[in-house]
Amino acid sequence: MRLPWISLFFYLFAASDSALVSIPLLASDDAPVVTGDLLSFSIGPDRWLDWAGNTSRNEFFYNALNNLVKFTGTSPSIRIGALGGDPVNYNPNLEFVQNVYGEPSVIIPYPEPSSMVVGLGYYQAAQFLPAGTKVTWGVNLVDRNLTAVYLESKAIIEAFASPAFKEANITLDFLEVGNEPDLYVFHGYRSADYNFSVYLEEWTTLASNVTKAADLAGSKTRFWGGVFAGPAWTNLTGFTAANLLDSGILTSEPGSFITAISQHLYSGLDFSGNISVLNQLMSKATIRSNLTAFVPDIKATRAKGLDYVLGETNSYAVHGAANVSNAAGAALWALDYTLSASQIGISKLFFEGGIGYKYNLLQPVTLTRSILDGIPLATPLPPHIQPTYYAAIVLAEAIGDSGNTQAVELAIEDDSITGYAFYEQSALKRALFINLLPYLSTQTTPRASTHLNLSFSGSAHSPASFSVKRLTIGYADDTRGVTFGGQTYETVDALVSGSPTDETGLVSQGIDIAATEAVFIAFN
Ligand SMILES: *[C@@H]1O[C@H](CO)[C@@H](O)[C@H](O)[C@H]1NC(C)=O
Ligand SMILES: *[C@@H]1O[C@H](CO)[C@@H](O)[C@H](O)[C@H]1NC(C)=O
Ligand SMILES: *[C@@H]1O[C@H](CO)[C@@H](O)[C@H](O)[C@H]1NC(C)=O
Ligand SMILES: *[C@@H]1O[C@H](CO)[C@@H](O)[C@H](O)[C@H]1NC(C)=O
Ligand SMILES: *[C@@H]1O[C@H](CO)[C@@H](O)[C@H](O)[C@H]1NC(C)=O
Ligand SMILES: *[C@@H]1O[C@H](CO)[C@@H](O)[C@H](O)[C@H]1NC(C)=O
Ligand SMILES: *[C@@H]1O[C@H](CO)[C@@H](O)[C@H](O)[C@H]1NC(C)=O
Ligand SMILES: *[C@@H]1O[C@H](CO)[C@@H](O)[C@H](O)[C@H]1NC(C)=O
Ligand SMILES: *[C@@H]1O[C@H](CO)[C@@H](O)[C@H](O)[C@H]1NC(C)=O
Ligand SMILES: *[C@@H]1O[C@H](CO)[C@@H](O)[C@H](O)[C@H]1NC(C)=O
Repeated sequence: MRLPWISLFFYLFAASDSALVSIPLLASDDAPVVTGDLLSFSIGPDRWLDWAGNTSRNEFFYNALNNLVKFTGTSPSIRIGALGGDPVNYNPNLEFVQNVYGEPSVIIPYPEPSSMVVGLGYYQAAQFLPAGTKVTWGVNLVDRNLTAVYLESKAIIEAFASPAFKEANITLDFLEVGNEPDLYVFHGYRSADYNFSVYLEEWTTLASNVTKAADLAGSKTRFWGGVFAGPAWTNLTGFTAANLLDSGILTSEPGSFITAISQHLYSGLDFSGNISVLNQLMSKATIRSNLTAFVPDIKATRAKGLDYVLGETNSYAVHGAANVSNAAGAALWALDYTLSASQIGISKLFFEGGIGYKYNLLQPVTLTRSILDGIPLATPLPPHIQPTYYAAIVLAEAIGDSGNTQAVELAIEDDSITGYAFYEQSALKRALFINLLPYLSTQTTPRASTHLNLSFSGSAHSPASFSVKRLTIGYADDTRGVTFGGQTYETVDALVSGSPTDETGLVSQGIDIAATEAVFIAFN
């Protein structure tokens, strides 16, 4: 336990600054509900079997997901999609998957395949996910090949209808037809005159076939609509959720099965390897401006009564920025980004990951090339979590297992500090503070710290004390050594290890938060 005089000591000698935080004791009815799978996963399709397992489950990946289930009672949702998975073919004689790869490069050490063919076992591997997992799968729009789409849909349905899936309650929540069609011209999949109306025709033709092949009328599976890369990346006009919903698509037969719109978001693109890029990523203002660019789309979606998700997202596009996406500071970015998204009507964020990608929350198999530059490693790197995995852990504990937790962002007058309060049955339970100020290994001045003066608003019982768990980071550019409440997940099996810290605090005395730190408090 931290004694009050120690808090005072920290305040007098370490805190260079203070900020007021007023926390409502009660959540209003319209405060956003955050589900246990708010932070979900999108898996690069080519090496999906490396994540899940092929004939038996990948214990490392399973444990990493199940750690979250232990907090929330809900498995993260899983989307298998992204670049490389759109032009996929199906071969009933193939057991698992056949990928053809180009050469790795310094910038892309683990490239996407140039071709990919799958068999039934590819889809059946979803049975190795934690019980209750909801799955989204993408089918091929690039090739405009009805046979491919038909066979894939049939195989997916066959897999999910098998006893192992029923027993584990693993369900096919959504199908998506095509991935980022607004980049088809850029990738050379379509000629330069490709446009939104041609896309709509193609989608409707192929999705009609999927609707029948997957018997959507007789199942709970629905479509994600859109699946666009987003306005920051494309030269094509019209590929927005608002425009899609205005096109009348929802009144077409396949369109009537769209119940959620998915768009993709990456903060930017950076191949410099320069750790100072963390200053751009860990920015309270950038996180908000990047997300609020989607507000018109979210409003248009919600106005039609549909759900809105970021079906693919992460820090920097094309597998992440070296020394940045894989750094500890990115965990604070991911935490704040996910919660900030929840405040503007985004119900789930699927964090993209692929084998050897820099921005992964975890690396589920042994790697033999460096994720930073593709150079062969002297010693193979066994499966391990990366710092951003802690964002998932902290969120899971903050959301908890109530099934109806509400999260409310707190107004904090500080350019780097954000805060969120968590409610169950409208009553305040927990709070999370995130100090995004980068503390880099190159910094020569002392680490800053801010004292948060806590107070409550509203009339209800005010808690006087709380327990504390800190997300402790050495430097923002560290790539390991992060702990939460004194415990680590950097273990051979992704299971938690180490003795928990036992810090408590008094509301009347507030709490300190260092640069590049998150502080989670549970009120007593
Ligand atoms: C926070 O509380 C301290 C000690 O009570 C006080 O000195 C400081 O001015 C307060 N900060 C703000 C922003 O009110
Ligand atoms: C199945 O996975 C194991 C373990 O990763 C691997 O050694 C094996 O080659 C895979 N089998 C097939 C047929 O892909
Ligand atoms: C269409 O898809 C089927 C099944 O995936 C594949 O066998 C066939 O080669 C594809 N046709 C073309 C023209 O790509
Ligand atoms: C199956 O999982 C869903 C969540 O995906 C859950 O809502 C439902 O209660 C579960 N059903 C059973 C029978 O466990
Ligand atoms: C879907 O496409 C397949 C392959 O071309 C075809 O056999 C099937 O009849 C189509 N189904 C519908 C409902 O159009
Ligand atoms: C946009 O157009 C420019 C100029 O034609 C081209 O260089 C660039 O690759 C295009 N970007 C995308 C994403 O299509
Ligand atoms: C879209 O492309 C098609 C085929 O090239 C063309 O007929 C149509 O006029 C274009 N639509 C718009 C709005 O540009
Ligand atoms: C996110 O914000 C940064 C800073 O304003 C900007 O440079 C970047 O282009 C934005 N990203 C997107 C996808 O809009
Ligand atoms: C990443 O950081 C390491 C260690 O500081 C450095 O050697 C490497 O050049 C950086 N990576 C890139 C791609 O710049
Ligand atoms: C990294 O970026 C900073 C800030 O833009 C710059 O001052 C520095 O020279 C860069 N370092 C390298 C190795 O490019």
